[in-house]
Amino acid sequence: MWEQVQETVSFIQERVNFTPEYGVILGSGLGSFTSDMQVHFTLPYNEIPNFPVSTVQGHKGALVFGTIGSKKVVAMQGRFHYYEGYSMTEVTFPVRVLKFLGVDKLIVSNASGGVNPSYKVGSIVMITDHINMTPEHPLRGKNDERFGPRFVNMSEPYSRKMIAKATQIAEELNIVTHEGIYLGLQGPTFETLAEYKMVKILGADCVGMSTVPEVIVARHMDLETFGISVITDMGDAESIGTISHDEVLEAAKEAEPQVRSLIKELILNY
Ligand code: HPA
Repeated sequence: MWEQVQETVSFIQERVNFTPEYGVILGSGLGSFTSDMQVHFTLPYNEIPNFPVSTVQGHKGALVFGTIGSKKVVAMQGRFHYYEGYSMTEVTFPVRVLKFLGVDKLIVSNASGGVNPSYKVGSIVMITDHINMTPEHPLRGKNDERFGPRFVNMSEPYSRKMIAKATQIAEELNIVTHEGIYLGLQGPTFETLAEYKMVKILGADCVGMSTVPEVIVARHMDLETFGISVITDMGDAESIGTISHDEVLEAAKEAEPQVRSLIKELILNY
């Protein structure tokens, strides 16, 4: 994989003379973030060697290079999910590439289902920790020390300093935020009521189908990581009947302006 990552990085660097400091994975709730960027270059995933090939129709897949103020950013427009059939190595390959393009801070966003009763649809949650219950570990297999150590310290998967800065910014912008623990499952089904209960009993506040593998790989390579989640549905008896992908997309869109300005200011001021 080392050679593949280096090959991909060389290919990108030949086309884009740009060393990004921030990587941003645009999930639901942050899709339009590139409008806040002064875009210098866009590279569709299907033109990038070794990148996973998207099977989803109409899938927006591109690396977007640009600036926010004086900060250099590369955004991943579209991510790869395990439930789509990719291996965990494929799901997390782009994160490896970001690191060797120069990124040392990674911001990940997602939509999730809330099980903390103080949340409601549209709540914005800064992820403080996660529980990995996806079925395959992205670091399983022979470890390549050039990426990072065999046994990764996971005491601070989400940077406390970045959370503190984002909290301060949210207060200044009058954006209500929460903190919470994200539990990662593979999907693609939404959870049953019994599973949402399990998620809560296990100590998580929200549940989703992405992010955890990406953050594990980011921490393997010592990237400082910040995660933000939009609660798009509540996993409780009253709400569970209507949960659908459309509802998720709609709720994520509603929260988008606030999530966008929070991330923009975090990048500008951190
Ligand atoms: N469960 C899992 N993933 C999700 C959910 C959910 O309720 N909402 C958005 N992504």
